Amino acid sequence: MSRVIQVRDKQFAVSIPEEQIRKEVKRVAKEICRDYEGTQPVFLAVLNGSFIFAADLLREIDIPCEISFVRLASYQGVSTTGEIREVMGLNMDITGRPVIVLEDIVDTGLTMAHMLETLKAHNPSSIDICTLLLKPGKLQVKLDVRYCCMEIPNDFIVGYGLDYDSFGRNTKDIYTLVDK
Ligand code: IMP
Repeated sequence: MSRVIQVRDKQFAVSIPEEQIRKEVKRVAKEICRDYEGTQPVFLAVLNGSFIFAADLLREIDIPCEISFVRLASYQGVSTTGEIREVMGLNMDITGRPVIVLEDIVDTGLTMAHMLETLKAHNPSSIDICTLLLKPGKLQVKLDVRYCCMEIPNDFIVGYGLDYDSFGRNTKDIYTLVDK
């Protein structure tokens, strides 16, 4: 598969086709349903990047659950800035509830580490991380990622919710930056 798209000033080639994404999302949803049976978990989807992943995953979850959306941005362009902002939008009480954080991609892991710290202060009964993608080669912190759909190399990617400079979120497949 060698489909190439242009996003802003860069070219990206298909690296994970839609069918593979669907299959892995279904697999992880099944694992969550099995592990969380009878617990009524709260999914917290991290905006903006996880909106498509969250929508697809939730439709595969067949146990009672709630979902809410939070925001914590730390990324601009193609490299992490290290700058971390506060969690915004947590408008429900998660005290004593099992929480599953839905993330598009764990790169350095700094965003998730910060998110976990902040959420722990709200005293949920448990917190698990569920990410669509993980770049194991980029992890800078110790992070227990319980659910991961796919591990990928260190390259920059777009599509299926993930952006480059705010563009490129609206594709069904995932694309990798073509080096020039
Ligand atoms: P981390 O804090 O370095 O783990 O970065 C996590 C956030 O950076 C993700 O939620 C994404 O928004 C963004 N990010 C990391 N890698 C990529 C990528 O390859 N493409 C698009 N966004 C990315």
